[in-house]
Amino acid sequence: MKKEKLVRLFDRQAKRYAKGKDSASLKRWRQELIRQAEGEVLELAVGAGANFPYYPSGVKVTATDFSEEMLRKARVAAAAHHMDAVFICGDIEKMSFDEESFDTIVSTLSFCCYENPLGMFQKIQRWCKPDGNILLLEHGISSHVAISTFQRTFNPLFCRVVGCHHNRDMLELVKASGIEIDKVESHWFNMVHLIWAKPGTRV
Ligand SMILES: C[S@@+](CC[C@H](N)C(=O)[O-])C[C@H]1O[C@@H](n2cnc3c(N)ncnc32)[C@H](O)[C@@H]1O
Repeated sequence: MKKEKLVRLFDRQAKRYAKGKDSASLKRWRQELIRQAEGEVLELAVGAGANFPYYPSGVKVTATDFSEEMLRKARVAAAAHHMDAVFICGDIEKMSFDEESFDTIVSTLSFCCYENPLGMFQKIQRWCKPDGNILLLEHGISSHVAISTFQRTFNPLFCRVVGCHHNRDMLELVKASGIEIDKVESHWFNMVHLIWAKPGTRV
């Protein structure tokens, strides 16, 4: 799908995201992950700011998204949670930041959207300080045969309706990118992964 069309698709979903109708599990997973953030944080594709309630105090968040409507909601959420945050509207796949400029990089449910998820995993390693943290909560293809068949069959429909791919093997992509995984927790028939990681060693 063309990027402009994808932006409009997410613009239209911003109100729903801002209602914060996450399941109890999703809220718990966000909390588990985001409380580990520290220092200068880059949050990719922040959406309506669903992670903001869980950041520890003292972090400074650079929040990006290509949907102005999502960012409008995220700014409201940031104010409500007294966040020190700056917002950048644009396509994260085309953005560049200085190498090693963030202590923490956060992505929740964003790698399902990118054209080149492997390339993005490689980019965030460069943007993260060598001793920094990469915190990921991502969904993808299940290890359960019936579920994965369903996901593969309906993937074109999911992409058209909600803008995200359901057939990506996120753990394999992270491993292929060279990111060094410290800990993984997988849920819902391995469809959802919480990943605590670090940039891989540069050669
Ligand atoms: C499934 S939502 C997740 C939002 C948020 N991270 C969360 O956990 O609720 C995906 C978000 O990614 C944004 N997005 C998708 N592709 C993007 C891109 N290439 N650059 C910037 N933002 C993007 C969408 O606008 C949307 O806000």
